[in-house]
Amino acid sequence: MKIIPGPASQLLASRVAQQLGIQPTICEYRQFPDGEFYTRILDDGIDDVTIIQSTPQDSDLIALLQLIDACEEAPQINVVIPYMGYARQDKVFKPGEPVSARAIARTINADRVFTVNVHEQTVLEHFNADSFDLDASHLLGDYIRSLNLKDPLIIAPDAGALDLAETAATDVGVPYDYFEKTRHSGESVTIKDKEIDVVGKEVIIIDDMIATGGTMAESIRMLKEQGATEVYVACVHPVLTRNAVVRLYNAGVTDIISTDTLEKVQSKITVAPLIADAIKKL
Ligand code: R5P
Repeated sequence: MKIIPGPASQLLASRVAQQLGIQPTICEYRQFPDGEFYTRILDDGIDDVTIIQSTPQDSDLIALLQLIDACEEAPQINVVIPYMGYARQDKVFKPGEPVSARAIARTINADRVFTVNVHEQTVLEHFNADSFDLDASHLLGDYIRSLNLKDPLIIAPDAGALDLAETAATDVGVPYDYFEKTRHSGESVTIKDKEIDVVGKEVIIIDDMIATGGTMAESIRMLKEQGATEVYVACVHPVLTRNAVVRLYNAGVTDIISTDTLEKVQSKITVAPLIADAIKKL
């Protein structure tokens, strides 16, 4: 088995290879003068492959498609997309829109596809391959436990994150609750007023991803106003676009915790064991 690290998942792929006791394959990535991408796998042995590449940017999807094509001769092609861009457009919200997640999934030509906490499980149905979603919520729970907080409470910022909050809270052995969110635009959300007893508590808000930080910033403000002493935010996918980090600190966050499905300074937790275990079972 070869591990092929895509340009967006170099560290994570290296960690997975390390867990498997193999060396990841070196690839060449550069751009032509007209902006097109050049990709080359610097190993021409024929073997089963696992390509690991998140797709936060459109160019990352191009690199993934190129890598899959370069592995055309491999007997088995596994593709791991730790963070799958466009997964949030998982249905037609307004007439005339595409199901972007479906459009992306249909481009992946592989034997198996693995995602990590993909935004909606229905996205998996669109891959023309056996598809599996790996769950990082226990890893988030382990990290939260390691903080040794005195009186913690886990909150989901919306009903969609409730499963994540419930799993992590059950692992840590602490209570959990959730807010109700209404999204008005890409950056603007409101969180419905809800009295939760957070006075003197350390609250961890948990979500699948933090993008603009709007959801978390509103939640942090409400919890601080209600008397929480510390508010941490934890997510699987640290998209953290635009001013997200500043918005979170302005709102009073204590720390931002995330996994390395996207490689940011906040990626304190690695999902490598999840991926390595899935590969070992193949
Ligand atoms: C939405 O349903 C997701 O689970 C996240 O809550 C959302 O994507 C976060 O986006 P933002 O950080 O821009 O509020």
